[in-house]
Amino acid sequence: QLATSFDEPVLLGVIGGTGLYSLSGLVPVAKLDITTPWGKPSSPVTISKTASGFPIAFISRHGVHHEFTPSTVPAQANIAALKHLGVNSIIAFSAVGSLQQHIKPRDFVIPTQIIDRTKGIRPSTFFDTGFVAHVPFGDPFDYKLGKLLGEFGHALGAEHEGDEVLLHTKKSEGGKDLTVICMEGPAFSTRAESKLYQSWGGSVINMSVLPEAKLAKEAEISYQMICMSTDYDAWREEEEPVTLEIVVGNLKANSANANNLLVAVLSTVEKAIKAGEIGKDLEGFMRHSVVTGR
Ligand code: ADE
Repeated sequence: QLATSFDEPVLLGVIGGTGLYSLSGLVPVAKLDITTPWGKPSSPVTISKTASGFPIAFISRHGVHHEFTPSTVPAQANIAALKHLGVNSIIAFSAVGSLQQHIKPRDFVIPTQIIDRTKGIRPSTFFDTGFVAHVPFGDPFDYKLGKLLGEFGHALGAEHEGDEVLLHTKKSEGGKDLTVICMEGPAFSTRAESKLYQSWGGSVINMSVLPEAKLAKEAEISYQMICMSTDYDAWREEEEPVTLEIVVGNLKANSANANNLLVAVLSTVEKAIKAGEIGKDLEGFMRHSVVTGR
């Protein structure tokens, strides 16, 4: 039986995407039923500890039984719940489609940029009730956390269809940004849309990085997404457009790799957070973003 409360501060949060509904390899110690001013998060918050006793808060973005579509994920409550626990750094996983030949299904990508193709139907700020803030969002992800994940996140399991499964980073792309397109869904893109996103320089496409990344920024939390490729989206003329069946097969492999990658990076991330090298950069920065008079 897991505890229903947890009194120590939790500095690191992990958000699991499609296929990643829990963390394996860590010892769960508590399961918290949290209600925030923005409602309940998508799932109870599970607190697990690393071997050295460092606590990590986990939320399943689409719910424990995948009951939230990307358009209905309570992202405000998810970020608020993590903030409430003391989280200052988030590693967020997300299944994505690939817009580039060299990013194969099952490869992982650490994106550095976002293009918003959501339709404005998702609440995307905490500052909308008589309080106005314009958050700088030029760099949507935490550079230091991303760099660290890129350097240490090497434990992707072996091969798929004869090719090595790769972790793509800005460094491995020769310094070029890796851009995730965030679309509304739930239907996947048309071929024309998919090609349009390629022409915009998109690397991968998902339905989940927004508004999550914006809300994390507003909450002064250092945030980095790890994209897990499941398919080639719809741009390849010679292929059938993406189906859920293809996606699900790759999701299973990706979920195992996500856990492997976490195990590989956690002790380094833990040290960096404890040393204040990660998770502190946004401290107090919203003070300069609020325009409403006090
Ligand atoms: N998630 C996984 N594959 C996707 C795709 N092709 N488009 C949008 N979201 C996705």
